Amino acid sequence: MPDHATATAKVAVFVSGTGTNMAALLYASRLPGSPYEIALVAANDPAAPALALARAEGVPTFALAHAGMAREDHDAAMERAARDAGAQYIVLAGYMRILTPGFVGRWEGRMLNIHPSLLPAYPGLDTHARAIAAGDSYGGTSVHLVTEELDAGEILGQIAIAIQPGDTPAALAARVRLAEHQLYPRVLADYVSRWNDPQHLLARVRTLALALPQTHERESHGAPGFRVGTEKSGKFFAHFSDRHHGAPHVSLLVKCAGLDELETLVEAQPHAYHKPAYYGASGWIGVILNRADLDWDDAAHWLRRSWQQVAPKSIAGLLDTADAS
Ligand code: GAR
Repeated sequence: MPDHATATAKVAVFVSGTGTNMAALLYASRLPGSPYEIALVAANDPAAPALALARAEGVPTFALAHAGMAREDHDAAMERAARDAGAQYIVLAGYMRILTPGFVGRWEGRMLNIHPSLLPAYPGLDTHARAIAAGDSYGGTSVHLVTEELDAGEILGQIAIAIQPGDTPAALAARVRLAEHQLYPRVLADYVSRWNDPQHLLARVRTLALALPQTHERESHGAPGFRVGTEKSGKFFAHFSDRHHGAPHVSLLVKCAGLDELETLVEAQPHAYHKPAYYGASGWIGVILNRADLDWDDAAHWLRRSWQQVAPKSIAGLLDTADAS
């Protein structure tokens, strides 16, 4: 097993204030089996109570007031602190700053935020007051990936919170926080474990495979497979293998050029490729998917190659047409 299969993910938490979400994340990380650990708590306000709590709990902290600094410079300093702490993920927990696009781009897919509304409703500020004023029956909280557009990245989890008659923004906010403390640790734990979750890996493979022309899914020997051509006469161009025949990997089996290529790749990059039982002998290579550093563009490339190799001549041109359009 590669090292990262057992290591916990290192997380930097960015805060601006009280940090009750940071505390929830921290204490959850101290339960046995947590897949993440808090490597740093960083704040844009040196007086943030969150920092005192982190320090008391023995978590490294970093603080830099943003007043008078260019946004880029402040972001860069925060980012440097996160990297120095070895962070693989940045988690925003009440961090009330808009981040620069460059910073967001460098952490794409590795930066999460919690927002006190049922997104896409009420991005921005004053979410509770707006929900109450609108007469909504529910407020809520959402954890989402951070993208350039404010509060608009993929939603990873949500909890709805009933709005009660006579609710005030403060009363609602307090209940939302209770829900947030349940939501954030769970979503973060699931998210950092995704790379090793067969369900998630299969869903991504499925999306890529079925995006290719004239494809469909068909089980083969009890495992998901993907075929090109008609339902009747199609041929398999990919199989999804979840630790089959005692293998430690979750992998994507695709056609390669032949045994020479297969053996060369397996020898040179044993963390990325393996020779699958049975299939290997007929030129199917195993692309290992449960790697924290998997590049999905590579997996997509292998699917296309395999599709091209297997597709009947009558439709082989479709891929080029699809590319051109
Ligand atoms: C949380 O309710 C969080 O959803 C919200 O700030 C609060 C921070 O509380 N975040 C935002 O409004 C982001 N736009 P905490 O400091 O006690 O965790």
